[in-house]
Amino acid sequence: MNLERKKVAVFRKEHFNAAHRLHNPNWDDATNTAVFGKCNNPNYHGHNYELIVQVTGYPDPQTGYVMDMKVLSDLIWEHALNLFDHKNLNEDTTAFKHLNPTAENIAVVIYDLLRPQIDAALDLKIRLYETERNFVEYPA
Ligand code: NI
Repeated sequence: MNLERKKVAVFRKEHFNAAHRLHNPNWDDATNTAVFGKCNNPNYHGHNYELIVQVTGYPDPQTGYVMDMKVLSDLIWEHALNLFDHKNLNEDTTAFKHLNPTAENIAVVIYDLLRPQIDAALDLKIRLYETERNFVEYPA
């Protein structure tokens, strides 16, 4: 069996909490309320985010791992989630000072933080659940 030809995806699930407000400063209050609804609440609100990081590649012939999941978890926290967990994304982070903290944008930011930390031979995909029913993936 030639494992080098058997590509496998591995997934690490992490959880974090954060507050945010969706707001476009170029629009008036009525437009912001119409577009973002409760997520435009001026005093912020929180979400329990579920993050799933997918890494795809060929299992290493020595370890049988695509990637060590403990290493992956540590990278996720060190380079991404420690910046966001229990934070107000709009007020406490540089990434979202001028970027609307939608699930879409959070997923792209997390991808950009993690991509340089993971072997370039491995594919990376981010899935982020903002609620049980609403989730995004990047790259699409
Ligand atoms: Ni929200």
